Amino acid sequence: MLLNDYLQQQQQDHSVPSSLTDVLLSISQACLHINQAVRLGALGNILGSAHTGNVQGEEQKKLDVLANQILINTLTSQPAVAGLASEEEESFVRANQHGEYLVLFDPLDGSSNIDVNISIGTIFSILRKPAGELNTESFLQSGRQQVASGYVLYGPQTILVLTVKHGVAMFTLNQDNKFQLTQDKPIIPVQTAEFAINMSNQRHWQAPMQEYIAELLAGKTGKRGKDFNMRWVASMVAEVHRILVRGGLFTYPQDQRDPSKPGKLRLMYEANPMSLLVEQAQGAATNTQQNILDIQPTGLHQRVAVVLGSKEEVDYLTAKHQHI
Ligand code: AHG
Ligand code: MN
Ligand code: MN
Repeated sequence: MLLNDYLQQQQQDHSVPSSLTDVLLSISQACLHINQAVRLGALGNILGSAHTGNVQGEEQKKLDVLANQILINTLTSQPAVAGLASEEEESFVRANQHGEYLVLFDPLDGSSNIDVNISIGTIFSILRKPAGELNTESFLQSGRQQVASGYVLYGPQTILVLTVKHGVAMFTLNQDNKFQLTQDKPIIPVQTAEFAINMSNQRHWQAPMQEYIAELLAGKTGKRGKDFNMRWVASMVAEVHRILVRGGLFTYPQDQRDPSKPGKLRLMYEANPMSLLVEQAQGAATNTQQNILDIQPTGLHQRVAVVLGSKEEVDYLTAKHQHI
């Protein structure tokens, strides 16, 4: 089944509005363009730095800038879109006055992987536009309010994963350059023996995280009584995809370096859309204190600690943080 047919079916079975499926199709079109650029690599002159910085002070790669531009161009010409917010744009972008939806995105996730040909992706989140004048507050809705979210993984295969809140669907880009349904309603196993964390930050972690990872590393002879495997791709899209396929725990914790910075990942462009997918696949997502989808955002670019994946493991790590 192709993406178009899947979305038609969601319209019929779950009354998903056709305007929302239009937005999803526009996003998929934009991602096809990004995919073409990714596949060309050096031949498309898309590797390396753009020699500019974004609002968060991070160096932008050529592909960060290109992917952002492709999404903005495509989505501002989609009538159902009222406004956009991007990790790479300081303020929101106005689209169409009568649009019903807001689209928030991380145009290119895993930027440090671009030049070394390791998996990267695009992450998106869709909210309803509240009535009245469009302003920054219009975007500051909790993750629970999302009507859809998803990502495109530019890996060995190009894969689109989305939810319209009736489970998760996975599509693989076929030889005709069309997204074809390859897995419907994946379920994340509740238990796991695989974790993902950037171990190089260990000395900065807070006590509960130190204790938790030490337990996992102790393996069979430790408190957990089993051996754990570790993976770190440095691209959240790839990590979440692995978790949707075979389970696992992913965390990018808050650490002691800068108390004003609660973690590295962005609530609106990374944590919320991924948490919705994970929850729709029966996994869990918290910031160690509350469910990520319940956080009331205060700023477009706000950061958040993230723990997500297999439910029992997320609950175990979250519980460890309750007695501090
Ligand atoms: P982005 O490329 O959009 O800035 O996001 C990268 C994020 C996330 O995808 C990944 O989990 C994490 O940053 C990797 O961080 P480290 O380089 O610190 O491992
Ligand atoms: Mn990112
Ligand atoms: Mn990015």
